[in-house]
Amino acid sequence: MKVPFLDLSRSHQALRDEILQSFAATYDAGRFCLGDDVVAFEKEFATASGVADAVGIANGTAALHLVARALNLGPGDDIVVPAFTFIASAWTASYVGARPVFCDVDPATYNATAETIAAAITPATKAIVVVHLFGQAADMDPILELGRARGIPVIEDCAQAHLATYRGRPVGTMGCAGTFSFYPTKNLGGVGEGGAVVSTDAALLERVRLLRVHGSKVRYQHDEVGYNYRMEGLQAGALRVKLRQLEAWTAARRAHAQTYREGITLADTQLPQPAAWGDSVYHQFTLLHPRRDALRAHLADHGVSTDLIYPRALHEQPCFAEIGPATGSLPAAEALARTCLSLPIFPELTEAELAYVIETINTFAG
Ligand SMILES: Cc1ncc(COP(=O)(O)O)c(C=O)c1O
Repeated sequence: MKVPFLDLSRSHQALRDEILQSFAATYDAGRFCLGDDVVAFEKEFATASGVADAVGIANGTAALHLVARALNLGPGDDIVVPAFTFIASAWTASYVGARPVFCDVDPATYNATAETIAAAITPATKAIVVVHLFGQAADMDPILELGRARGIPVIEDCAQAHLATYRGRPVGTMGCAGTFSFYPTKNLGGVGEGGAVVSTDAALLERVRLLRVHGSKVRYQHDEVGYNYRMEGLQAGALRVKLRQLEAWTAARRAHAQTYREGITLADTQLPQPAAWGDSVYHQFTLLHPRRDALRAHLADHGVSTDLIYPRALHEQPCFAEIGPATGSLPAAEALARTCLSLPIFPELTEAELAYVIETINTFAG
């Protein structure tokens, strides 16, 4: 049997007619950049995410950039960023000329904690980026307390965590702002690029809206240096169709994760466990195994596609060679990069496919 790591065509086929109808409506109305579809999506996504308002953005990286700008972060500032995440989390600092200061993560949740963040705070720290990695909310209360005590805002990178909650509170609503990505592979993915900023701070969202369109509210008057980070109408239309499926898709991801946990018995394997403060939405199901590369080759030999997310910690990326810290300084993040293996977890995986992945893992001889 062949099991793909991700097969978007399954959901796209099921939603084909609805999405194409939404495209036709947008096409006929000529609402391509922002417009009614984006406004409607912003409202619907805000409701789904438990916030009053959301701002549709061109992509998740731009969303992080806009939040950094809205917080007036810039040269001379340090921003704490987990060392085990996608590179864009660190661009939050780089794009505004600030310095990303990498912190270690918890080997159980793969997320930064108040302790690992505290160890990375410097006198110049002006923000903390928390990533709810793979869909698992970070342990927010101690992090928020740390931020409050030091007067440092907490930005939530929710790119992988649509509908995730922390002790019943939606991600993105606890820090000063939350950013989302709608890259096609995300739990809620467009048919192209997309992103959003959410916040309970109306003034911050107002600034994000201004910066999103060239720093302009009145045509050809530019109050500050802004960007072309508009969300496209066609994307908003597709996202509105897909948003209606998001709860069911999230339930399917959680059920698959539970099936993996019940089935995988391979020795020396660490599986993701639901955190005490709320289960993951399983953007990824990432196990740890000391012989990860051999296990991955065994799965590939038997037709099961997997991925390494992420094979290198951020402080070991060539682009941050001068920033560091040196290899060996953030041992948990470095160990994760060496031992992590992400399994197929997309909603449309069949029971037979799941059973086959489990059986193939359990027959790995090591
Ligand atoms: C944790 C994280 N942050 C930020 C981003 C950036 O999102 P985008 O690809 O939409 O720019 C991504 C996704 O790619 C991500 O996984």
